[in-house]
Amino acid sequence: MDKLVIDGPCQLAGKVRVSGAKNAALPILMACLLAESKVTLSNIPHLKDITTTIQLLASMGVDVLFDEKLNIELDASVLTSKEAPYDLVKTMRASILVLGPLLARYGEAKVSLPGGCAIGSRPVNIHIEGLEKMGANIRVEQGYIVAKASRLKGADISMEPVTVTGTENLLMAAVLAEGITTLRNAAKEPEVTDLAEFLNKMGAKISGIGTDTLVVKGVKSLQGIKYDVIPDRIEAGTYLAAAAVTGSKVTVTHANAEHLTSVLEKFEEAGAKITVDSDKITLDMIGRTLKPVNIRTDPYPLFPTDMQAQFVVMNALASGSSTVEETIFENRFMHVSELVRMGANIQVEGNTAIIEGVAGLIGAPVMATDLRASACLILAALIAEGETVISRIYHIDRGYELIEEKFHKIGAHIYRAN
Ligand code: EPU
Repeated sequence: MDKLVIDGPCQLAGKVRVSGAKNAALPILMACLLAESKVTLSNIPHLKDITTTIQLLASMGVDVLFDEKLNIELDASVLTSKEAPYDLVKTMRASILVLGPLLARYGEAKVSLPGGCAIGSRPVNIHIEGLEKMGANIRVEQGYIVAKASRLKGADISMEPVTVTGTENLLMAAVLAEGITTLRNAAKEPEVTDLAEFLNKMGAKISGIGTDTLVVKGVKSLQGIKYDVIPDRIEAGTYLAAAAVTGSKVTVTHANAEHLTSVLEKFEEAGAKITVDSDKITLDMIGRTLKPVNIRTDPYPLFPTDMQAQFVVMNALASGSSTVEETIFENRFMHVSELVRMGANIQVEGNTAIIEGVAGLIGAPVMATDLRASACLILAALIAEGETVISRIYHIDRGYELIEEKFHKIGAHIYRAN
């Protein structure tokens, strides 16, 4: 099994090109199931979760082609299966996103019920209850969600708590439903907005995009289009956090600073100098001292849970104490015990990490437990004295494109070993 080996401490410098957003690309790929003609997608990142999604769509009969510029063409005009099997769903929970489109376009779907995962139990009750409100008949049989509907009907659906993929699934179902669907307390994450813009470009009638109330007027069919996926705000934020912990200056390019407002504010509060110039964001920490910042994760536009682990590392090295409160997932502090093994002084009480900054970290063998936890271990390793070996890095390959190449290019001593 692959490992990442990092020799610290490293000083970083230069530019990193941000890839397309994983969490926008996934629902948009699934939404291709709704189109009656060919869709061409660009800025799709090369990641394990994307390969899994393409495998899933291909297993249903979607024709998938890569052109010479690595754009992806998907033709879902004829499907041979409406099933998402356990073997694929167990490797990627986002497979649940085929449920809404399949039910809306074909009136049937069989999708393995995702289990819990390292960061929490992550139920999908809101996805199911919303589809039932739209007239679907849903049973769980032998671990599968078996759903049927003649034609889905518009409904007034209120979601609690705010759910990103729940909003996306119901949005994809609503675009082909008969009548008006209102989704209340909808997620406002840029990835949800990108999906809604994509659906409208295909012919859907969604209003209220970017707000917490989405109103969808169902249409009879959607047509294929060309679409460019938004940049990955979490990948951008992760490289900026790497500059912050190493006292370096790094620019991320092809980024969208508007999607990172709450994160950039926290970087500034932590003592970094941030400069935004069109699609470039520079974080300059040279000669500056990291200050502790209190963090509380919340739905967009507030501070994202997917940047929590990276800020735990920054706080672990800041002079002073801080708290990081996780309100989205019940078990998203598994990186803390690994950071403690590297010399960090952190205690977790309930959903809050209490952090006392230390002067430095020391390299150690550590284990990645989930995607963002693995990113935070790389950040810790970049500043730690000596060698850190991170195992179970399949987690990181799910969400960060060419991570060792990108870090190597800006000066990190990092390589992959097995
Ligand atoms: N929830 C329910 N019932 C539901 C759905 C969600 O109770 O039916 C709860 C969850 O248990 C959680 C909260 O609602 O406590 C929010 O979860 P959400 O549904 O928003 O999470 P998700 O859609 O499963 C997406 C991202 C995550 C990201 C979260 C929060 C994708 C594919 N995944 O997950 O990304 O952390 O939103 O922003 O979009 C990652 O990229 O590393 C990652 C985990």
